[in-house]
Amino acid sequence: MKIIGLGKGIPKECVTNDQLSEFLDTNDEWIVSRTGIKTRYVCVGETLTDLSATAATDALNKANLSAKDIDLIICTTICGDYCTPSLACCIAERINARCPAFDINAACTGFIYALELADGFIRVGKYKNILIVSAEKMSAKVDWNDRNTCVLFGDGAAACVVTEGESVKYINLSSSATPNTEVLNMPNGTGNSPFAAEKKQNEYLNMQGQKVFKFVVNIVEAELKLMTERTGITPEQIDRFLLHQANKRIIDYTLARLKQPAEKFPCNIERYGNLSSASVPLLLTEMTETGQVKAGDTLLLCAFGGGLTAGTCVMTIDS
Ligand code: COA
Repeated sequence: MKIIGLGKGIPKECVTNDQLSEFLDTNDEWIVSRTGIKTRYVCVGETLTDLSATAATDALNKANLSAKDIDLIICTTICGDYCTPSLACCIAERINARCPAFDINAACTGFIYALELADGFIRVGKYKNILIVSAEKMSAKVDWNDRNTCVLFGDGAAACVVTEGESVKYINLSSSATPNTEVLNMPNGTGNSPFAAEKKQNEYLNMQGQKVFKFVVNIVEAELKLMTERTGITPEQIDRFLLHQANKRIIDYTLARLKQPAEKFPCNIERYGNLSSASVPLLLTEMTETGQVKAGDTLLLCAFGGGLTAGTCVMTIDS
């Protein structure tokens, strides 16, 4: 499989840390020093379908394809505009695609899970051109009274078109064996069921930051070790490590453990915050747009998050 087009869709409204401190007991110094985040984009009038359709159209244009050339749409999200129709179906309607379309939920790891699925479909010859859209509207999912979480996230979408090719060399997916629901979750409620023993409303995202931090630094290290064992590719042979943009300190910790230079770990967390499953593909899109990823480069993509899930992909960039 190979990527032949990448695109993005970002809300217009950019919110600074200082703007958050106008209604929340927080400050720019805390947020920047603990996370690396300076701004995030949030939807004001845009729906997630709007952002996703923009990203999808951008990716199709870059791939020189139209919607009718797409055989399948896979969307990764935990924030779809509707429970049903899926975000993938909303995108299909908007861009006028007539192919199967569905969403998957692997939280922040979603894009790597989607790559694995797409790779499988393409390998068995079921579909040729697949559109993957990773899109999140976390502003609708966090509690804006909770400074532990709301400062961390933002909204945005990224998309890619994949087709037959040889550039994806390795994908590994994992989910933690131990129960981890309590450290990172977003509970659904009971609706107005008259039969539910205990009435529960939908809740906002809950996260025990330090526990998740520990899981993440360990799983990233384990994922990278496993990749080297299975492929023989060493960290020195990777040109760029595109890690999920959850916290700059996680990225700094990882590059120090691997003894690799900081230039190999590009970041956009300072502008976007954590975009859940859209983080890694957005970073890949921007790196490609700015020429910081170029033909011949070997990239490692690694994402992690709710589940707790993790996933790694190694790919080369075709000319
Ligand atoms: N502004 C100011 N102070 C804040 C704050 C904010 N926005 N958020 C928390 N604090 C306070 C806490 O209340 C706490 O105060 P206390 O010591 O008086 O109790 C103090 O800062 C330290 O909080 P703590 O949670 O220990 O901070 P931390 O260094 O662990 O950083 C995270 C918090 C969330 C940034 C960090 O744990 C993290 O990035 N975790 C991993 C997240 C992740 O990877 N998610 C991936 C899946 S989405």
